[in-house]
Amino acid sequence: MAKVKIVVDRHFEISEIDKRIYGSFTEHMGRCVYGGIYEPGSPFADENGFRTDVIELVRELGVSIVRYPGGNFLSGYDWKDGVGPKEDRPQRLDLAWHSLETNQFGLDEFMDWSEKTGVEPMMAVNLGSAGLKDALELLEYTNVDAESKWAQYRVKNGNKKPYDIKVWCLGNEMDGPWQLGHKNAKEYAKVAGDVARGMRQMGEDLELVICGSSNRAMPTFGQWEETVLEDAYDLVDHISLHTYYEDHGDIQSFLACSVDLDYFINEVCEIADAVKAKLRSKKTITLSLDEWNVWRLSEYMGMERPKTWEIAPKVIEDEYNVADALVVGNLLISILRRSDRVKMACLAQLVNVIAPIRTEPDKAAWRQTTFFPFAYTAKYGKGKTLTTRIEAGKIETNKFGSVDGVDAITTYDAATGQLAIFLINRSLTDAQETSINLAGFKVKEVLDQVTLDEKDLTKTNNYQNSEAVAPRKDKTAKIVTSGVEVSLPPASWQVINLLVEEA
Ligand code: AHR
Repeated sequence: MAKVKIVVDRHFEISEIDKRIYGSFTEHMGRCVYGGIYEPGSPFADENGFRTDVIELVRELGVSIVRYPGGNFLSGYDWKDGVGPKEDRPQRLDLAWHSLETNQFGLDEFMDWSEKTGVEPMMAVNLGSAGLKDALELLEYTNVDAESKWAQYRVKNGNKKPYDIKVWCLGNEMDGPWQLGHKNAKEYAKVAGDVARGMRQMGEDLELVICGSSNRAMPTFGQWEETVLEDAYDLVDHISLHTYYEDHGDIQSFLACSVDLDYFINEVCEIADAVKAKLRSKKTITLSLDEWNVWRLSEYMGMERPKTWEIAPKVIEDEYNVADALVVGNLLISILRRSDRVKMACLAQLVNVIAPIRTEPDKAAWRQTTFFPFAYTAKYGKGKTLTTRIEAGKIETNKFGSVDGVDAITTYDAATGQLAIFLINRSLTDAQETSINLAGFKVKEVLDQVTLDEKDLTKTNNYQNSEAVAPRKDKTAKIVTSGVEVSLPPASWQVINLLVEEA
C-alpha cells in the first residue's frame, strides 16, 4: 500500500474558477447535431425537433458554454445557408466530413436550443473559405439592433432581440494542413487581426479567441503562437489550444497522459507571456482549451473516405471505457489547476461524436463513462482553486517517464462553505493511503464521496447495456484533526465534497 500526503492551505489560492471551463462543443459532424441534439419526428423530440432527453442530460452534465458550428466543418460553412425559411435552405457538400449538410438546423435553431438548455453560446467565424465580410455580417445578424440589412433579417426570421453573443472564435485550427483555407501563421494573423478589428467596431465588449495550435505535436507549435500573438496581441483576449488523447496499447502511459496537457498549458502561457514582455503589454492573454477529449484518432485516420455523400453518417462514435473516464477526470484536474489562465474549455464533442452523451433513434439518450467525472467536476468544482501539494510515490511510464502516482486538485467555495478534492490514482496495481491536510479549515462533514473504479477498465456503457458503468457512492473518507484520510483504489477517480469552516 503506497502512502500519499496532500497539503492544502486556505490562504494559497490559485484563482477564481471561470464556470466556462465546463464547456462543450457541437459541430455539424456525423450525428452530433442531426440525430443528436436535433431529431424532428423522434419520440423524444419537442415541437422544435430538439431531443428533450439530450437536453436533460446536458443539464445534468453541467455544461456552461457550447462552441458552434465547428470544428473543421466551420471552414467550408456559409452561415447564411442555415437561416431563413427551412424550405428555402440549400443542401450543401460538407468537405470536412464528406457528408451532405441539409441546413435544417442553423444559427437560429442553435440559439433556441442554447436558451432552452441553459447554456451560453460560443460562436465561431469561418476564416477558411470565408473571411472579414462574412464575419461582420454574421455579427450584425446576431448582435446588432439597427435598421440594417442583416439585423433586420434576424428580426424577419422571428428574433426581434439581438442574441448578444459574447465569445467568438476566429476560425478553427488554421494551423492544420487539413483545414480548408489553411494558412501559415503570418497569413492567419493578418486575417484574424483584420476580422478582430472589424468585429470590435461593432461590439467592443466581445471576447475574441485567436487560433493557437491544433495539438502540441504540430511542427509549428510555439512558433505559431508567437507569430499570431505578436501581430494581434491587442486585438484578442484568448488563444485556443486543442488536444486529444488515446490509448496506444500502453494503459499505464495512457493513465498518465494528463501530464502532456499540463506541459501544453504551461508552454502556451509561457509563450504568450514572452510576447507580452516583448510588447511591454500590461494585458495577459488567457487560454481557451476549446477542444479536448479522449479520441481513438488513429482508428479514424486509418479509415477509407466514404464513396457516397450521406446526411449525418455515423462518424467517430467512440465507445468510452472506464480507463477513458479516468483520463477525462484527470484532464479536468489539469484544467482546474491552471484556472488562473484557462478561462474556457470545451469537451469535444457533446453528443454521439466522441461524446459523453449517446443517442439512437429508438432509445432514450444514455451516459458514456466519461460523462461521470465531467458531471461531478462541474457540480462540485466551484469557487476558487487552492494550491494542492502532492507528495506521492512515482510510477514509471514509457511515454511520460516518471510521474506522480496520484494527482489532485482542491476547490473551495466560500459562499457555500464547500470544499471539494478531486483525486486520481494512476497506479494500476497499488491502492494509495492518502492523507489530506487542510490547513486553515475545520472539516464539519463529508457531504459526498464518489468513486469511479472497476476491475475491468475496458467496461463501457452502450446501446445494449447503457448503465453498466456508473460511479459509486463511497463512505470511506475519514475526518481527522488535520483534514481527511482516504484510501484510493488502484486505477480510480474520486471526488470528496466537504462542508468546512474556516479555522
Ligand atoms: O472534434 C473533431 C475535430 O477535431 C474538429 O472538427 C477539429 O477541429 C479537430 O481536429
